[in-house]
Amino acid sequence: MNTVISVNVGLPREVPWQGKVVRTAVWKEPVAGRVMARRLNLAGDGQGDLAGHGGEHRAVMVYQLESYRHWQNHFQAADFPYGQFGENLTVDGLADTDVCIGDRYRIGGAMFEVTQPRVTCYRVGIRTGHADMPALLVSHQRPGFYLRVIEEGEIGAGDEIVKIAEGPERISVATINALLYLPDHPRETLERALRIPALSQGWQGSLRALLAAAEDSNAGPHATQAAAPQWPGFRPLKIVSTCNESDDVRSFVLGAPDGSPLPEALPGQYLVVRLRPPQAALPLVRNYSLSGPQGGGLYRISVKREAHGAASGYLHASMKAGDVLEASAPRGGFTLLAGTAPAVLLSAGIGITPVLAMLHALAKEASSSRQVWWVHGARNGKRHPFAAEAHRLLAALKTGKAFTAYSQPDADDRLGEQYDGAGRVDIPLLQRLDVPQDADFYLCGPAGFIDALTAGLKLWGVASANIHTEAFGPAAPMTPGIVNPDQEPPHAPEGQAGAGPGVTFTRSGLTVPWGDGYNSLLEFAEACSVPVRWACRAGVCHNCESALIGGEVRYSPDPLDPPADGNVLICCSTPVSEIQLDL
Ligand SMILES: Cc1cc2nc3c(=O)[nH]c(=O)nc-3n(C[C@H](O)[C@H](O)[C@H](O)COP(=O)(O)OP(=O)(O)OC[C@H]3O[C@@H](n4cnc5c(N)ncnc54)[C@H](O)[C@@H]3O)c2cc1C
Ligand code: FES
Repeated sequence: MNTVISVNVGLPREVPWQGKVVRTAVWKEPVAGRVMARRLNLAGDGQGDLAGHGGEHRAVMVYQLESYRHWQNHFQAADFPYGQFGENLTVDGLADTDVCIGDRYRIGGAMFEVTQPRVTCYRVGIRTGHADMPALLVSHQRPGFYLRVIEEGEIGAGDEIVKIAEGPERISVATINALLYLPDHPRETLERALRIPALSQGWQGSLRALLAAAEDSNAGPHATQAAAPQWPGFRPLKIVSTCNESDDVRSFVLGAPDGSPLPEALPGQYLVVRLRPPQAALPLVRNYSLSGPQGGGLYRISVKREAHGAASGYLHASMKAGDVLEASAPRGGFTLLAGTAPAVLLSAGIGITPVLAMLHALAKEASSSRQVWWVHGARNGKRHPFAAEAHRLLAALKTGKAFTAYSQPDADDRLGEQYDGAGRVDIPLLQRLDVPQDADFYLCGPAGFIDALTAGLKLWGVASANIHTEAFGPAAPMTPGIVNPDQEPPHAPEGQAGAGPGVTFTRSGLTVPWGDGYNSLLEFAEACSVPVRWACRAGVCHNCESALIGGEVRYSPDPLDPPADGNVLICCSTPVSEIQLDL
């Protein structure tokens, strides 16, 4: 007979951890008597971070007595208090290998449905005192699972747990957990799992991403980029020609020094360029999107000269045809999707570069009836690069529509010729242009432009999956549960400089020597205030997966499922050579 052994609840509290403060409700205490199970919570229970935990599909967490015995044995620990694994119900029975997603159970006066395995989160590591606990729970195939409350009612220790319905497809908690987090992702099981209506939205999204990767043989399982890079690290490229595109943007066409053709890039990808100005102590490493057409064996980057900008200033002032720089292979997952869906290319300022490469690709398919919108915001005619080029490409399209907005037109800028209206690109403009809501939207420009348009598109009803963005700087950080996250600009870590290999954070424009006191590149990036994304900090969830542009790392522990080729999990790796990370 399956039984409830203990009902445990806890409210969020703030706990000190590694010099930071974490808001968490992972501390759960057994309660005496009966407890009301409501749609979002047990009475007296709560979650510290509603982005990662809680909500209707993660209302009640279950962990098994049998797994308690397993961990007592594993850690040689005498006793564990109930609630130790952050669970609301400690139960006898209901093994992860037996319980299936969508199974329904009656407990006391309430009815529940199984929705997903445990969230792999570092907080269970804090609670148990074992930082690698999130990885152990997965590798030992003992995650535990979440319940949705179908019928509210009272429950208590000693209640029998009665199965009243079986979920479709019969995929157990252990199987679906391994499907997401362990190396094998069979397509057929992914498709079956996605047919279970009870599976939470979050897990459906993750499994859909795996399915998409399974369809692209080049992409890694949790890939943040479209395909494996075509060469490791950096190779020399010669500047074949340069061309001024506007007052402050200059293009550099790059080729192999021996004249052989460069591999084809995907429209929207970028290079990481390494420059060695004679007067600089360290090389400058910066990202530049490819702005030119695909094919032809050459790459074109287009660089806006920033006031006081080190790399852009050097490129404009000193680099000329015949000079050689070093560049990574084309990288990045902001690429034009194949297909026939309408494409809306939205850019502002120098954000024009990757979408211009997309426009080249679309113009190549000129015979297709794919609808294309080109909407660009520039300051004025002098700051409007590629006007003629975009015009020519749009003219080649069967169904191309365009609008250029100048935010501060000059008196001699010609309305109706150089630009179509004064102001900025916004949602009312897209609505006036009859942009369809089911299009794929590609956005690149300043952070404010991307944030405002992304929020506006969502409000307008565009599906998040159809909004694709490229930020010309670090990605937004994800630091679940951290109270007052670090917002300082990137800097060298405090204290004496380390003696290890140089670590370059390309998007942050920072190169610093690795120091011995750090357990992982993630800890080192945090010490440098480099924006990072993570959740488990133990090599399971892949939230910290970042592009490793060059160099080598060592893993400890090994990730359960390796990252895509050319990527790295920074939470469980340290550098063994000079490295460049796309952070
Ligand atoms: C994926 C990606 C693609 C990109 N694609 C492009 C592209 O196609 N074209 C492009 O031009 N850029 C692109 N960038 C941005 C590019 O990588 C650089 O960030 C940009 O060229 C600025 O580098 P910098 O060395 O010139 O400026 P940095 O020296 O790194 O300075 C950064 C900023 O600080 C300001 N600054 C520096 N020193 C001072 C000072 N003393 N006082 C006041 N302000 C100061 C500069 O004006 C600059 O705005 C891209 C970035 C990413 C992440
Ligand atoms: S934070 Fe989860 S794998 Fe690195």
